[in-house]
Amino acid sequence: MKAVKELLGLYLRDLSKLYEPVEIRAIFYTLTEFYADLDRIDVSLNPEISMEESEMLSALEKLQEAVPLQHITGQKEFYGRKFLVNKDVLIPRPETAELVEWILQDFETQKELKILDIGTGSGIIAISLAKTLPNAEVTAVDISETALLTAQKNADLHKVTISFRRVDILSATDFKEKFDVIVSNPPYIRNSEKGLMQDNVLNYEPHKALFVSDENPLIFYNKILDFARKNTSKNALVYFEINEYLKDEMTELLMRKKFDKYEFRKDIFDKWRMLKVWVS
Ligand SMILES: C[S@@+](CC[C@H](N)C(=O)[O-])C[C@H]1O[C@@H](n2cnc3c(N)ncnc32)[C@H](O)[C@@H]1O
Repeated sequence: MKAVKELLGLYLRDLSKLYEPVEIRAIFYTLTEFYADLDRIDVSLNPEISMEESEMLSALEKLQEAVPLQHITGQKEFYGRKFLVNKDVLIPRPETAELVEWILQDFETQKELKILDIGTGSGIIAISLAKTLPNAEVTAVDISETALLTAQKNADLHKVTISFRRVDILSATDFKEKFDVIVSNPPYIRNSEKGLMQDNVLNYEPHKALFVSDENPLIFYNKILDFARKNTSKNALVYFEINEYLKDEMTELLMRKKFDKYEFRKDIFDKWRMLKVWVS
């Protein structure tokens, strides 16, 4: 057994090159809670408290190799629920919850709805929508078979039925059903932006989920908008998460494709991150 404050000292010392102290503390308390059910308040109230150290020390070693915290715990909270995550799926980002929130605000009162989530990853968007809109029929697709296995586990965990399908949206043919809502957080980071990213993302998260070429960074939006024209019901809406640096290019794409009604929104970090498009 080791005093928690002693362990915290080790974390602050050994992770200082990778994280800010405030982040180290947040990581540390996530792990004390995960391994010993001790949260920040428990520790503050009992500064002398001890815990078994082996798991905390092994986690510290992994963190020093830039393994993401969420790969150590195997989970991440998104929109108030816990989701299983692993190397096959993108770790949920808080910005994406704002996209879910936007859809839920728009469709609160809707009785029946057919929703398609393109590039579902761990299933966070599809599952969060299905939980709050129980009358919605939700389909979710991804190119990655292993991501879909994780998404199915998350759907089971949260007791929702989603129709998961392996689809490469870039070469997809038309679907049988027509959707009222299409939502997608597709890969949108240009290869040239890799230099801005940290090792825990670059070395551990699936590149297929993140990156696109600099020559054609809107490839997914282009394809999904074409797909939406043919595979949606009347008055359907498409919601996208977007690259904060590509709002102007997105606007050009919409104009070129003759989508004349759309709305961009900023996220909590004041970045242009969301787009809603009216398909008519
Ligand atoms: C940015 S991640 C989003 C994951 C999840 N929806 C989220 O918001 O956390 C993009 C997802 O698109 C999937 N993807 C990449 N290329 C694809 C393709 N050609 N067709 C379908 N899905 C694709 C990736 O496997 C990944 O799960």
